[in-house]
Amino acid sequence: MTRVYVHDVAVRDGFQIEPAFVPTDVKIALIDELSATGLAKIEATAFVSPKAVPNLRDAEAVMRGIRRVPGVIYSALVPNAKGAERAVSCEVDEINLVVSASETHNRANVNRTTEQSLSGFRDVMNIIRGTGVAVNGSVSTTFGCPFEGSIPETRVFHCVERYLELGMDGITLADTTGMAHPKQVRELTRAVLARFPTAEITLHFHNTRAMGLANVLAGLEAGVVRYDGSLGGLGGCPFAPGATGNICTEDLVHMLEAMGYQTGVDLDKLLVAARRLPDIVGHDLPGQVAKAGKITDLHDAGVPKTPTS
Ligand code: COA
Ligand code: ZN
Repeated sequence: MTRVYVHDVAVRDGFQIEPAFVPTDVKIALIDELSATGLAKIEATAFVSPKAVPNLRDAEAVMRGIRRVPGVIYSALVPNAKGAERAVSCEVDEINLVVSASETHNRANVNRTTEQSLSGFRDVMNIIRGTGVAVNGSVSTTFGCPFEGSIPETRVFHCVERYLELGMDGITLADTTGMAHPKQVRELTRAVLARFPTAEITLHFHNTRAMGLANVLAGLEAGVVRYDGSLGGLGGCPFAPGATGNICTEDLVHMLEAMGYQTGVDLDKLLVAARRLPDIVGHDLPGQVAKAGKITDLHDAGVPKTPTS
């Protein structure tokens, strides 16, 4: 049975774009609940400018307040050296660096050129050296940019190559605004793996155009076994027009388990958390299984099983 590693990014990718600030104790309680579900990784927050992303201004308090479950990787998004210093001071397990394949999105997201971002990551590596903190490198807008459209694959290769030269432990190919389609995912992911066979790839999809889980299947066909999702299907980049939610973690786990993949996730526990989430954010969520129930949840037909005469 193939093992697939499921990561949840709701508290970072999800809460960053919510209209209302989610209180710190609520974030901590949700992460603690997610920690007990068997997820491989939880992206707990982002050490970014509180002016850029006010909703995650409590990053230190969140990282220090959670109960760490052994075996779960607690990750945080980091854009620059200042973010790395903050993340290291909270003893995160992993920092997730971010650069966009698209020059325009990188400028909108982190106010610098991709080259400035990538060369700044050398300082990040110096900060984390000897701390035991792992580093993942994310490439935003890998499959398309809301400003520039299609991104030449050479741009993606360049970012991956630079990350690997810096010594990244993993690489995430991110579809920031849900522009990827399955054929593209299969081909581009295969091309990245053919060029960088040792890269440990995660795929990060948004379901903006309803292609999210189809893209996961394409990723599985290409041989990728690590996927980001977001509880309830929350999520979106505040610096990309039209951004909407990630693929929904519980829908992802439900599909994978139905197909015979082993995720190590307790779907029932995940669904309990997902069904509480609308109360936390104050609105309905796109996740489907939390509403419909699992395919194994059968209904009473209300008629006797053996017909009586
Ligand atoms: N954490 C906290 N504060 C930070 C910071 C960080 N990682 N990086 C910079 N700052 C502060 C600086 O100290 C400075 O503060 P001051 O005005 O009080 O002196 C201010 O932010 C400006 O610093 P500067 O380096 O000029 O940053 P900038 O204004 O060019 O913004 C980023 C660059 C990367 C900090 C900002 O664009 C950002 O945080 N983006 C977040 C992107 C994001 O999270 N996107 C969604 C996920 S992909
Ligand atoms: Zn995202």
